[in-house]
Amino acid sequence: MSIISVFKKKTKKTLFTTPSHNGKICIFHKFYQWYKNDISEVDAYNPQEALQKAEKRASEIYKTKSTHFLTNGSTSGILAAVLASCKKGDKLLIWEKSHKCHKHAGILAGANIVEYELPFNEEWGIYEPLSGEKLETLLNTEKPKAIIVTTPSYEGIVSDVKKFSNICKKCNVIFIADEAHGALYPFSENLPQSAVKYADFTVQSLHKTAGGINPTALLHSNSDLDIKSALDLISTTSPSYPMLATIEANINFLNSKRGKKKIEELIKNIQNLKTKLANLEFYGDDITKILIKKEGLTGYELSEILYEKFGIEDEKTNEKSTMLLTGIGTTKEKLEKLKKLTKI
Ligand SMILES: Cc1ncc(COP(=O)(O)O)c(C=O)c1O
Repeated sequence: MSIISVFKKKTKKTLFTTPSHNGKICIFHKFYQWYKNDISEVDAYNPQEALQKAEKRASEIYKTKSTHFLTNGSTSGILAAVLASCKKGDKLLIWEKSHKCHKHAGILAGANIVEYELPFNEEWGIYEPLSGEKLETLLNTEKPKAIIVTTPSYEGIVSDVKKFSNICKKCNVIFIADEAHGALYPFSENLPQSAVKYADFTVQSLHKTAGGINPTALLHSNSDLDIKSALDLISTTSPSYPMLATIEANINFLNSKRGKKKIEELIKNIQNLKTKLANLEFYGDDITKILIKKEGLTGYELSEILYEKFGIEDEKTNEKSTMLLTGIGTTKEKLEKLKKLTKI
């Protein structure tokens, strides 16, 4: 049974259980359907069994040892992965500019947090990944228990995850991949390689690029470490089944012919757009993150022109370049609006 099918069940039982709205009192009407479908772990529905089965099916799709649905973002996946990997005093390597959840995870685990640097690309104002050689030197010098690698970066710069996995195995270091911005990667040959099958743990935010609602995400494990107990440490005992059902539907969609076609259409539409914008420079490993630069303008000036003149808000800007984020819901019509940028 799927989580989705739990919502089709009609029960004749009279529930003297949580949730207290009983699906009858809807305090905020805009979310009427949410209240109506907000069920608890009661025998009449048994959604917890459906969740277990849905996670098992997801692990088959992603070819992992286990895959876990997260309703508190990649943030919670990173916390759990580090709690499963590090005991008090163990050394945890994190990038000095990483998302704050990496440090928070280390703090919660009582780990000895050591920050590493990444090479800076002066021309584009962004960070580049470590080379395999640099990673190996770092691991041999610091001898950590685990390392967290952000791949892709916000701007779509990707590490060689296969090589990283081999090096981490050789050095006996747990490899945690923060693939928060790469949830589409397992579903297209035309996107960078996903860490899902290489890292010990990989987190992906479905909400960032893959059409999920905020803050749905996934945690994939290829490790024998006890990730389930680590997740228990940081999770509510009253999960939101409507949210979990959207995760199940999201994975089914990404893995469907229709979903894969949508991803390929997005890629094709961006490729097409790039040929029209000969006045701009592009950079990055992931075509869905449109990182642009214009000679004579700083990234901030470019961002301001986009906003003020064309009514376009970018995702992230630095001194040198500006990034426009796209995802599975970015239509051809929306991308067409970027053709105006020929006038910059
Ligand atoms: C690189 C990176 N990792 C992790 C996160 C946390 O993801 P979430 O918002 O799904 O918790 C973010 C969020 O911006 C991020 O940019």
